[in-house]
Amino acid sequence: MRKTIIAAVCLILGASLQAKKAETKLNIIPEPQSVSVNKGSFKIKGANFNYDSFLDAASVAAIAKLADDINFASGKTSSVAVATGVNSGTPLEAMKGIYFLKDATLDKEEYRIEIVSNAAKITASGKNGFLYALSTFKQLLPVEIFSGKPAYGAKWSIPCCTIQDKPRFPYRGIHLDCARHFFGVEAVKRFLDVCAAYKINRFHWHLTEDQGWRVEIKKYPELTETGAFRAGTQTTKDRDKHDGKRYGGYYTQEQIREIVEYADNLGITVIPEIDLPGHMLAALASYPWLGCTGGPYQVWTRWGVSDQVLCVGKESTFEFIFNVLDEICELFPSEYIHIGGDECPKKEWEKCPACQAKIAELGLKDGDGATKEQRLQNYVTGRVQDYLAGKGRKIIGWDEILEGDLGEGATVMSWRGTKGGIQASKMGFDVIMSPTTYCYFDYKQGATEEDLKVGAAYPPKKSYDARNLYGFEPYDEIDAEATKHILGVQGNVWTEWIRNEYELYYMLIPRLQALSEVQWTEPGKRSYENFTRKMEGLHFKIMDALGYNYRPGL
Ligand code: ACM
Ligand code: ZN
Repeated sequence: MRKTIIAAVCLILGASLQAKKAETKLNIIPEPQSVSVNKGSFKIKGANFNYDSFLDAASVAAIAKLADDINFASGKTSSVAVATGVNSGTPLEAMKGIYFLKDATLDKEEYRIEIVSNAAKITASGKNGFLYALSTFKQLLPVEIFSGKPAYGAKWSIPCCTIQDKPRFPYRGIHLDCARHFFGVEAVKRFLDVCAAYKINRFHWHLTEDQGWRVEIKKYPELTETGAFRAGTQTTKDRDKHDGKRYGGYYTQEQIREIVEYADNLGITVIPEIDLPGHMLAALASYPWLGCTGGPYQVWTRWGVSDQVLCVGKESTFEFIFNVLDEICELFPSEYIHIGGDECPKKEWEKCPACQAKIAELGLKDGDGATKEQRLQNYVTGRVQDYLAGKGRKIIGWDEILEGDLGEGATVMSWRGTKGGIQASKMGFDVIMSPTTYCYFDYKQGATEEDLKVGAAYPPKKSYDARNLYGFEPYDEIDAEATKHILGVQGNVWTEWIRNEYELYYMLIPRLQALSEVQWTEPGKRSYENFTRKMEGLHFKIMDALGYNYRPGL
């Protein structure tokens, strides 16, 4: 009996200790590199904001916005001013309020947050560090900060803690296909907002396709007058049927610039994709001389891979590509331009006199694992790579660009599983891992009614849900020496079966949050169990407050 009582007491004590421990766990996603929670709390309501005079404009604007939001939601006012008489080395005891201070010794995307009862000190060396610190900081506040509604009664204090944080991978990407279904400027901004909140720093923008050309090119107005619209959309599994409704849209160059700047203020670089030489039917429909047969061509109303591709036997096609890339480079300051390269059937090249003449001229042969037509695609990739190198840019291509001989300095985006990435890294190419097996957000997540209604026509052989993605280890099967070539991980949102924002966010969230932990945090420092706790404890509530749809299951 005595033993039972002692055991029971121990159990209760253990449970309450456990509860106390759980209470002090923070809910930050992605999981920071190191967090220690201390006793006490800092009252944020009415606390004054101070920032280093060396801070960049985007960080200052983000700090002022946070102060505004806290003031509005908490009902107290505070000031935002340049910090005087302090620097990143000033001890916290000598501070009162919130300080954002530059510390040039930190890495480019690193940040630190130190909170004691009288002050909060946030340090970073540059814009992305400060923006990430702010994202983390907001996740320490009452969830009402996200809803934009007053919440005077909420607990406007945050636990005393120290957070030191920086990313595992430098490239943390998200892709959006705005060609199969078009998402307008405001929709793209909302997409960027939620991605930035999870410390994503690259937006791979898929702008051209068989089903629509979405970027204004001044030299070729038909690309958007003709190529941006299709006669209908395939809405069932029957590829030969479409709904007969004219569908389309495009971004003007002014709108593109607006989005590039908007993204930049969120710490995100936009990487445009001009997918070539396949997936070009919208361009062919606009300018039939770009094709091997001369047409007629139509912007596609169905999904799949078209046999009709650019004719690369003609110099006029290269002139077109280079002219388009000239305008693309003017619009997008990114170091990388994505040139696609995926799914380019060679049927037309095999029959086309111009393409065959080019193959003969170049002396291309079948053998060593590649056909002469695959080598012809290599030649296209190489010429485009050289052209862009002349403008100081680098290429990214889907893993098909590895077929044949790829030029030094290209970056491979591994999508047909990880094998392309494994091979490319061995060969010394940089790699972005984006395998269908983990990172395709058009793939179905489960077998509920809603899961089956939204998303790609691929029934789940397995569940491509957040848990599956969370288990992705980008270094698996990569030679130790080659891990330095793995730049990072990207999630891809293909939109054949995603028609609107409601469906988009159902497919994106919570996979976005799972992706962010794979991109940001080493596997030993995170767990799916803790991730689900944070999603349920805070992040689904944040999504509710911000008005994003999501898939509720984990
Ligand atoms: C791809 O999914 N076709 C790159
Ligand atoms: Zn041809």
